[in-house]
Amino acid sequence: SKKNQSYHIVFSQCVLDDAWRKEMLEEMQRELSFYPHVDFTLYDADGSSAKQIQQIEHILQKPIDLLIVSPNESEPLAPVVDRTYRQGVPVIVVDRKTSTEHYNSYVGANNYQVGKLASLVITQDNTDNNLRGKVIYITGLTNSSASIEREKGFTDGLKEYISNDNLIRLVGNWQPESAPTALRNLDRHTIEQADYIFCFNDPMAFACSQYLDSLQLANKPRIIGVDGLYGPKNGLNHVINKSLFATIHYPTGGKETIRTAMAILTKQEYQRNIDLGTMIIDSQNVHLLNDLEKKVSDQYADIDRQQIILNKLKGINKLESIK
Ligand code: FRU
Repeated sequence: SKKNQSYHIVFSQCVLDDAWRKEMLEEMQRELSFYPHVDFTLYDADGSSAKQIQQIEHILQKPIDLLIVSPNESEPLAPVVDRTYRQGVPVIVVDRKTSTEHYNSYVGANNYQVGKLASLVITQDNTDNNLRGKVIYITGLTNSSASIEREKGFTDGLKEYISNDNLIRLVGNWQPESAPTALRNLDRHTIEQADYIFCFNDPMAFACSQYLDSLQLANKPRIIGVDGLYGPKNGLNHVINKSLFATIHYPTGGKETIRTAMAILTKQEYQRNIDLGTMIIDSQNVHLLNDLEKKVSDQYADIDRQQIILNKLKGINKLESIK
């Protein structure tokens, strides 16, 4: 049977050096530990589409069984991902998409919905349904599908509530510093007129919050982010500390991705689209969520400790059998 066949999975990640991507990788590795016969190789494109294209071209020179890819930008990555798929290599797209449909499965939350929920935070906060002040939003890398879809959902959601000249669009690039950099294009008065700033991820949102603190404005706009990760420097904690007014939960899907990969490789049924779900996190539910996440994180720590003990015991058994 194929049970003990070894598989080679390659993961082309658009960026690695941020909390959200590290969490995704940890989830993948935890799930992969159930499949010791799987050979897993990670490529980090460091936020460069050119580098990611080169890396996938390099990957395709050797036989692989499955490609997992989170495309840095949609259009530039489409041709090489399409080519992979046409060569008969199964492709799982995670978080960000290419501009085509040539993949076996997409794993991610609905980014249009993420943007829509961010607009809902604002309209529900304004019960008179009339936004008099300004709303600023700061995008991610504008050619990333996640940014394109979040923007569409957000602007659609606000359409009936705000005039065009009160909605200010600034361009960011997912990196935290890109938020204050974008805000420096506005004068202090304009920022002071804003009631809300929606940043397309929590790292930008937190950098934005710190920048606004440094300006010591009479009124600090309410900041909304995306991701809602657990941990001292992450979104849940920023909502607890009130640096952020709210964030939109955006799961990484690391575990679901590996499960889907194994289903494809072992010829089991799998879903074409795995919608991970999303939700608003604000002062109402953040403590509950944080407690739940803490429990999960403690349990993982326990499992890791058990693993160490098991390995030690195995070592002891080996020594005894040598005797
Ligand atoms: C991490 C990240 C997340 C964001 C996602 C969008 O690299 O910027 O913060 O939600 O990518 O693709």
